[in-house]
Amino acid sequence: MSWKRWVREIEIEPSLYAADFLRLGEQIDHLIGAGARLFHFDIGDGHFVEPVTIGPIVLQSIAPLIHRFEGVIDCHLMVDNPEHHFEMVKNAGGDSVTFHVETCEEPWKAIKHARDLGLGVGVAFNPETSVEDAVGASIGADLVLCMSIHPGYSGQEFMPESLERIAALRSQLHQNLFVQVDGGVGEGNIAEIRRAGAQTVVAGSAIFGREDYPRAYRQLVKAFAEAV
Ligand code: DX5
Ligand code: ZN
Repeated sequence: MSWKRWVREIEIEPSLYAADFLRLGEQIDHLIGAGARLFHFDIGDGHFVEPVTIGPIVLQSIAPLIHRFEGVIDCHLMVDNPEHHFEMVKNAGGDSVTFHVETCEEPWKAIKHARDLGLGVGVAFNPETSVEDAVGASIGADLVLCMSIHPGYSGQEFMPESLERIAALRSQLHQNLFVQVDGGVGEGNIAEIRRAGAQTVVAGSAIFGREDYPRAYRQLVKAFAEAV
């Protein structure tokens, strides 16, 4: 279980939060067919972020389908007291947890807790949080997630100032950690995001908002891969 093995140089992670839940299994299947292996799963508690989103019950239903194809479920915990949820996420089939630095006084403890459960682990930070705070909290993690929107909802506009933050993060972060970007990623900005230093990006509405979402996924992969 390791991000080093999971990431095929770059990754586009479909954000299941933006999927059509009536057709969730079918959409995952089609995306696996299009080449997707890492899936982003947004857990929101209605407190740290406004909406209550999806949780362990949905996770449990989709985990066998994703794992059957050696896929990975990357859980983005937009919740207060994130550690409280680690074990439930693990038991429901999650492979990695990313918690927010804003929610955690002792990130090193949370990182150790995730590792002890055999989970991958990331540290996320919001647009108003400094890059330095995120880098400082990331020792021992696999990735740092730079939010390029205020977390909570799919379909928001990418905040252009994020590009500078991504570049600052890439230059300050240990080379062993991945830079991930979440929020408003699409065909129009994915090349710049890559050039700024991201290796993995999350895409919700840019995939599921398209009728031919497997094609949208493949086009994003191509645009991301070719942007160097
Ligand atoms: C929202 C979530 C995102 C969201 C991204 O806060 O963290 O993962 O689903 O959706 P898009 O790509 O539409 O901004
Ligand atoms: Zn997310």
